[in-house]
Amino acid sequence: MTDDLKTLYGGVTSRRVTTRDLQDAKDRGEKWAMLTSYDMLTAQLFDEVGIPALLVGDSAGNIVLGYETTVPVTVEDMIPLVRAVARSTTRPLVVADMPFGSYQESPAQALHNAVRFLQVGAQAVKLEGGRRVLPQVELLVESGVPVMGHLGLTPQSVNTFGGYRVQGRGEAGDQLLEDALALQTAGAFSVVLEVVPADLAERVSKELTIPTIGIGAGPGTDAQVLVWTDMAGLTPGNGPKFLKRYADLRTVLGDAARAYAGEVREGSYPTAEHGYS
Ligand code: KIV
Repeated sequence: MTDDLKTLYGGVTSRRVTTRDLQDAKDRGEKWAMLTSYDMLTAQLFDEVGIPALLVGDSAGNIVLGYETTVPVTVEDMIPLVRAVARSTTRPLVVADMPFGSYQESPAQALHNAVRFLQVGAQAVKLEGGRRVLPQVELLVESGVPVMGHLGLTPQSVNTFGGYRVQGRGEAGDQLLEDALALQTAGAFSVVLEVVPADLAERVSKELTIPTIGIGAGPGTDAQVLVWTDMAGLTPGNGPKFLKRYADLRTVLGDAARAYAGEVREGSYPTAEHGYS
């Protein structure tokens, strides 16, 4: 018997979520949420509140490492982040994002780098692209590496797209569906659909037997993913229209830092109540 995701997160069991659990959730019509995480504290917290899958995204490039795009991110950048998230959690499925240049060259290159991620604790990897990366997906799956696909606005191709634009409009939608089906046939266990029209995402989700995970792809996918700093309102600016901010951490943290610095400046911290006479 497989536990449903609610049981896994009701604290009844402490085992780690598997790709099979996510498939079972789709088969039952049960939606689930994935978040990115790049460090121990958020990974522990998201585990505690029951997020079933954590993506150590190459969005770390923008969120952690100070790059403008994900293109400069390397395997060496990602390894410590994947290790931190994996060793700080016991329940979510940890997915390592394969950075640009770490899998495009050949299936052997993809396997070499994917193995490195699994060796530091990830249970799966994600890579961007459809039919052009099928040989990579096939070798990874045959070798025992679960693969999450990623279609639509794939940020590593920003230089080809000429910006961050909606993908899959019109005839390109049929191509995207073909890519998704090909990934499924190659053995991918799920596919992220990023910034594609909602009707296309719904169509792909109905055609595929494996779970789809949407970001800016409407409500018709099997799961959703957000970059945690966007979800919690820590990233500056309003972000894209599809984004919902569930908190305003930027204001909370900014106010706390200002208050602390102010009290240190005026000498009201630390005081007697902190153990000093
Ligand atoms: O790197 C990332 O965070 C991602 C998600 C936005 C899907 O690829």
